[in-house]
Amino acid sequence: SKSPIRVAVTGAAGQITYSLLFRIASGAMFGPDQPVILQLIEVPVEKAMKALEGVAMELDDCAFPLLKGMVLTDDPRVGFKDANWSLLVGAKPRGPGMERADLLKDNGKIFISQGKIIDEVAAEDARVAVVGNPANTNCMIAASQAKRLPAERFTAMVRLDQNRAQAQLAKKAGVDLTTVKNIFIYGNHSPTMFPAFGHATIGGKPATEVITDSAWLQGPYCETVGKRGAAIIAARGLSSAASAANALIDHVRDLTTPGAIHSIAVKSNGLYGFDASVWAGMPVRTTTPGSYEVITGYTMDDFAKSKIAATNKELVEERAAVADML
Ligand code: NAI
Repeated sequence: SKSPIRVAVTGAAGQITYSLLFRIASGAMFGPDQPVILQLIEVPVEKAMKALEGVAMELDDCAFPLLKGMVLTDDPRVGFKDANWSLLVGAKPRGPGMERADLLKDNGKIFISQGKIIDEVAAEDARVAVVGNPANTNCMIAASQAKRLPAERFTAMVRLDQNRAQAQLAKKAGVDLTTVKNIFIYGNHSPTMFPAFGHATIGGKPATEVITDSAWLQGPYCETVGKRGAAIIAARGLSSAASAANALIDHVRDLTTPGAIHSIAVKSNGLYGFDASVWAGMPVRTTTPGSYEVITGYTMDDFAKSKIAATNKELVEERAAVADML
């Protein structure tokens, strides 16, 4: 039988993790034969650590056969020690009246420190997935601190956007969503992101031949996917949590499944018109567990190019806002 892998999770007493941790422990992320040790990291605040104890009690009470241990800590050095995967979910939310630049800087401090510590203490094969917003830029910041780990090990999540896009296209076409394939998210996890439909297929045919209403694709479709997070907040009074947790399960599971084709945010290296040093959503193919290659060669029409330019601009501005910290 396999030896356990160590999975560090920040924000472990938060909303998303309350949906996430139970599924990791059940085998949904790493497979039904892969034991895990959860290293749960929260802030050094009594209320947070108390809530974390409660979550750990519930994990105990599930009697998950694959859960071989838990570490509860407010010390990132302990939490990231020997971690094979570090899932960075915790972040500082935007407070009332807070400027975007301040949000970027406050989170920048967190991700600089976590990036450094992961680089120092995590496992040889360490992989990092960032969910906490602004996810792309937080990921770029964490990666900037790594001396040992290559930048490719740091990915940010755009899978929730991909899943949202898939569901919207299936609904419009009136088909089962499993027939909708090759939907990729380009750029930032923010309303500027481009949920590309030009290379998507529905039942093996180009999506644009099945959904011929190009005004819908360019307008309401992109808008619905881009503003879905805000729509969930308006409806639920809380931000998306179960769907975000589910997307992270998909992100990591596909990233550990050779041959899987999916969207993740990675260092752009200048592909698809993105600035070389930003982390942008891209289509990738998983090569070996935890590694991937960007799928190149998709051609972009003028509409796609303008969408990519807009989301790239936002990523470049975010990078500029934290440049003095890197
Ligand atoms: P939440 O506020 O319920 O939980 C966040 C938790 O993180 C809190 O318990 C907090 O104490 C903890 N935390 C904050 N700073 C930390 C640090 N330095 N180390 C360890 N823990 C820390 O928030 P929720 O709803 O779980 O969302 C978490 C993040 O995920 C937010 O930034 C949110 O914007 C983002 N998000 C990203 C999505 C994506 O698609 N990339 C989708 C949905 C949410």
